[in-house]
Amino acid sequence: MIKIDQVKKTFNRGKKIVLDNISFQINDGESVAILGGNGAGKTTLLEIIAGVLTPEDGRVYFVDSENDSKINKNLSELEEVNIKNKQSNKKLKNKEWLLKEDLEKNVGFQFQNGKWPFNTRGIDLLNFFGTKNWKSNEYINMLIDVFEVNEIIKKRLNKCSGGEQQRFNCLLSIINKPKILILDELITGLDLKMQIKLINFFKELKKSENITLIIVSHVPEEVEALSERIILLREGRIYLDDSVDNIKSKYKSVRELLTQFYASESENYEK
Ligand SMILES: Nc1ncnc2c1ncn2[C@@H]1O[C@H](COP(=O)(O)OP(=O)(O)O)[C@@H](O)[C@H]1O
Ligand SMILES: [Mg+2]
Repeated sequence: MIKIDQVKKTFNRGKKIVLDNISFQINDGESVAILGGNGAGKTTLLEIIAGVLTPEDGRVYFVDSENDSKINKNLSELEEVNIKNKQSNKKLKNKEWLLKEDLEKNVGFQFQNGKWPFNTRGIDLLNFFGTKNWKSNEYINMLIDVFEVNEIIKKRLNKCSGGEQQRFNCLLSIINKPKILILDELITGLDLKMQIKLINFFKELKKSENITLIIVSHVPEEVEALSERIILLREGRIYLDDSVDNIKSKYKSVRELLTQFYASESENYEK
């Protein structure tokens, strides 16, 4: 379970409140879509969940249901150790690093604007994040096939098109079979054929691996195909948190919910 507890994030020295004490939980195996207009704080929230960004206030807890609250407890201990070490300038012991790495390996994150150092090729990253023997790895070869990156991985990524980089970054996010997968506008900018293919691929993956899936999307059809719950953000707060089934019975479709939501948003602006 992921517990997002009173998370607050501001920019511009506190002048811009992007996330205003947000709290919710995501259960193991659940698939959630985080929705909201441009600038609503979706990417910021995902980056905080993935641990790439630190909130000013509040925390994200990962609770392993098999080990109950053990990881959670260990994490708080780790944080205490971190603080103490910071004070005394001591380095973390191996064991403590391992625990943190273990957790990080369980989260796969497809960054919205994944950028790699100049001259990096896909195959360099496969060697680094995957395994040196990826050429004979069945799973990785299947991914190369699905994402159609056979040629792309040989090129320097900065010479690949946006859509090509996006496909490759997405492949990387699942290369280590994460338990928690975060996809930030995965299909935005991809051609329709690829959009349909990837939506179906992740639908199957979700079913077969029972991963926890968190997506951001502006495409209602993608949300309906991949998510069972929607969290809609507005002005730094949760405006709506409901199951896709409930939303469909109230609004007929996710598209209709969003149509009404954005219509009421522009009414607010006119006032
Ligand atoms: N590093 C940053 N410095 C200043 N403002 C930022 C930074 N990152 C994001 N923001 C601002 O925070 C708001 C939310 O950004 P983001 O989470 O990327 O929105 P979304 O993904 O919902 O479109 C935006 O107004 C954005 O301009
Ligand atoms: Mg974003």
